[in-house]
Amino acid sequence: MHENLETTAAVIGYPIKHSRSPLIHNDWLARTGSPGHYDILEIAPDELGDACAQLRESAMKGFNVTIPHKEAIIPYLDEIDETAQKIGAVNTVSIRDGKLFGTNTDAYGFLENLHQGVPCFKVDSGPAVVLGAGGAARAVIYALQQEGVPQIILTNRTRSKAETLATDFKNIEVVDWEHRTGILSKANMLVNTTSLGMVGQPELDLDLFALSTRAVVYDLVYNPLQTELLKHAASKGCPALGGLGMLVYQAEKAFEIWFDIKPPVTEELMNKLKESL
Ligand code: ATR
Repeated sequence: MHENLETTAAVIGYPIKHSRSPLIHNDWLARTGSPGHYDILEIAPDELGDACAQLRESAMKGFNVTIPHKEAIIPYLDEIDETAQKIGAVNTVSIRDGKLFGTNTDAYGFLENLHQGVPCFKVDSGPAVVLGAGGAARAVIYALQQEGVPQIILTNRTRSKAETLATDFKNIEVVDWEHRTGILSKANMLVNTTSLGMVGQPELDLDLFALSTRAVVYDLVYNPLQTELLKHAASKGCPALGGLGMLVYQAEKAFEIWFDIKPPVTEELMNKLKESL
């Protein structure tokens, strides 16, 4: 670990060179006149326990947790809140009186980006189709159910993973990945939580023909900013949202937890992030 006296918050992960979190949080530390710096701490899986012991003793306000530690960190924390318990993963830890408190701000980030991007949209007005059944899908499903979604139609390449989610959350219908196109006619919203469409990954093969033009299409992928899915959605006239806002709003909540200040999401920050991709 390479935290120093200036480090007031950080992100831990492995490997972690490409994290955009320092860009976001250091912009906010400067804008809000808060002292200190947000750093990257690369921590290998076998170092996680020792690192948590050190972080507990540090003067830092807290840290973000990313791949591959989001689930593995839970046994090393003193407490996790209900949101992190239900999602089964922690992305934000605050350090108070030598204790580590875990939460998960991904669901907040997902919803805040949705509310900012499509203000008139009501999650509870119809079913949502969710693609993927990894950690991101768990946060999305939790968020949608918090907002009263009547039903989730879940499809994943590995069906068994979707079935696990259907036992952990209510009102989920699992559909085979091969049938993903046919289920779109029922969707009030379509969310891609898979890595398909991300730079370096295969494209998401999905025909949006059956999708209503009123359905919101939300792709958690943010690199590229305009995925093929979002381009197709926009060409149909569907409201379309990318994942960059979710990244920023999950960070907003973490910053607020640590520093008790809601930081400004400025156009300048969004542009800096876009340029960094
Ligand atoms: P995250 O934490 O971001 O959700 P993850 O847990 O690795 O990441 O989940 C990645 C998701 O993308 C999974 O739903 C995965 O499907 P599997 O459960 O079948 O692995 C999905 N995914 C990744 N590559 C895929 C591909 N080539 N085709 C279909 N789905 C894919």
